[in-house]
Amino acid sequence: MAAPTPLEDPLSALAWLVEAGADEAIGEVPVDRFVARPAAAPAVAQPRPAAAATTVAPAALKPAAPRPVAARPGAPAPTVDPSDNIGTAQALARAAGSLPELKAALEGFDGCALKQRATTTVFADGNPLSRILFIGEAPGRDEDARGLPFVGRAGKLLDKMMAAIKLDRSSAYITNVINWRPPDNREPSPEEAAMCLPFLRRHIELVNPVVIILLGAVAVRHVMGRSDGIMKTRGRWLEYNVNGDMVAVMPTLHPAYLLRQPAHKKLAWRDLQAVAQKIESVRKA
Ligand code: URA
Repeated sequence: MAAPTPLEDPLSALAWLVEAGADEAIGEVPVDRFVARPAAAPAVAQPRPAAAATTVAPAALKPAAPRPVAARPGAPAPTVDPSDNIGTAQALARAAGSLPELKAALEGFDGCALKQRATTTVFADGNPLSRILFIGEAPGRDEDARGLPFVGRAGKLLDKMMAAIKLDRSSAYITNVINWRPPDNREPSPEEAAMCLPFLRRHIELVNPVVIILLGAVAVRHVMGRSDGIMKTRGRWLEYNVNGDMVAVMPTLHPAYLLRQPAHKKLAWRDLQAVAQKIESVRKA
């Protein structure tokens, strides 16, 4: 039986969807899929081969150079429904063959509502060749103003945490799950995260890390799909598939949380000691 259209009979249309198994709204704004769609968007340009990301300080780990990551081979030129922002994000991210291309793609992407109120797109900071990747939650006010992650109070504590294991921004790389500041620093909604995640996943592929440190529950939830609470997940190694290899992932406490709960710094210290050992073992391998 054909579905009643929302315009003819909205209640029956809703009942029809529920009967068909839909039990969740995935967007905050309704998409009318019954009206004629606009012509397909122009195909996203085919990726160029991977190029070195930026000029950076010497890499921290051997083998230092990340494996060049070509844009996904054999992928047909994507055509994207402009109302399908997640599909657009995926196509743009997939087509990026280098970090500068990914940054440009993100800056040109208007599918995440957070961008409208943000001053800047916050991409990353540090050494992309270091292969040690810290992932936080989202930019705050200072990050939004400067266009760099972790440059406010939490960032200063993150610098100290990194220094405790002999890392700094020339020997590690930092990004966030979310690239635009959520208003009033609220937690990003699942929809906002869904818009940023294709870019983050491609970001991880291009950096090709040997160790990933997830800062806080939001990063663990969106990168690893785990919602069981940071106090449960922190301090235990997880694994994330990067370009076909399983990469060690350490969830730990977010520096902003540690500013509020300094008594828990000792837990983060323990987690970072495990990270230091992992880096040492990778260096020796
Ligand atoms: N908190 C984060 O998670 N990321 C930042 O960049 C700043 C604060």
